[in-house]
Amino acid sequence: MSIITLAGSPSQRSRSSALLRHAANRLRAGGWSIGELGLRDIPAEELIEGHYASPAAGALRARVAAADAVLISTPVYKASFAGGLKAVLDLLDEKALAGKVVLPIATGGSPAHLLALEYGLKPVLSALGARHILAGVYATDKQVRVDEAGQPHIDDDVRQRLEDSVDRLSEQLRPHAYVANEAYDLGRLALAGGFSV
Ligand SMILES: Cc1cc2nc3c(=O)[nH]c(=O)nc-3n(C[C@H](O)[C@H](O)[C@H](O)COP(=O)(O)O)c2cc1C
Repeated sequence: MSIITLAGSPSQRSRSSALLRHAANRLRAGGWSIGELGLRDIPAEELIEGHYASPAAGALRARVAAADAVLISTPVYKASFAGGLKAVLDLLDEKALAGKVVLPIATGGSPAHLLALEYGLKPVLSALGARHILAGVYATDKQVRVDEAGQPHIDDDVRQRLEDSVDRLSEQLRPHAYVANEAYDLGRLALAGGFSV
C-alpha cells in the first residue's frame, strides 16, 4: 500500500501544503509509505504547454498509478481550485484516480468559497475516475499560518478535523475494510455536504 500527496499551491510558504504535510506526517507515524508530488515536479513550460509525452509527465502518471490513495491540496484561486493543479491533473491518464481513495484539502481567504470546491475540484476528481472521495478539509487563512521560519500554525479545530480525515483514510486502506466502511461516493458527498469547515 502506498500513498502520495499532491500539493497544488505554487507558494513557498503555502498554507494548503502545510495541512498536506501535517496529514502526511500523521500517516507516516502510522507506518504508511508516503510519496510527495508538487507543481515543481513538472518543468513550468511543460506544465503550461501540457506536454503529455514528457518524461516528467510519464513519471507523474507512474507514481499516481502506483498509489492506493492520493491526498490533494489546493488554495482557492478566483473561486475555484488552483490553475497549476489543474495543469498537473490534465497530464494524468483519463481514469487515473479509479480505485483510489482521495482526500481533498483546501485553504482559502474566506469560508464562502468552500462550495467552489464542490463544483470545481470534485467534478474533476470524479472525471478522473475517483469514486471514493473522502469528506475533505477546508480551512481559512485565519486558521492556518506558516511563519517566516516555515513553521506551520494550525488551529486546534482544523488540526482535529484533518487528523480525523487522515484516520478515516487509513481505515479505508486497511485490507478487507475497504468495502465495508463508510467510503463516500460523489452522490453521497453532495447529500452530506462534503467538505467540513
Ligand atoms: C490569485 C489569488 C486568488 C485568490 N482567490 C481567492 C478566492 O477567490 N477566494 C478565497 O477565499 N481566497 C482566495 N485567495 C486566497 C487564497 O486562497 C488563500 O490565501 C490560500 O490560503 C492560499 O493558499 P496557499 O498558501 O496554499 O497558496 C486567492 C489568492 C490568490 C493569490
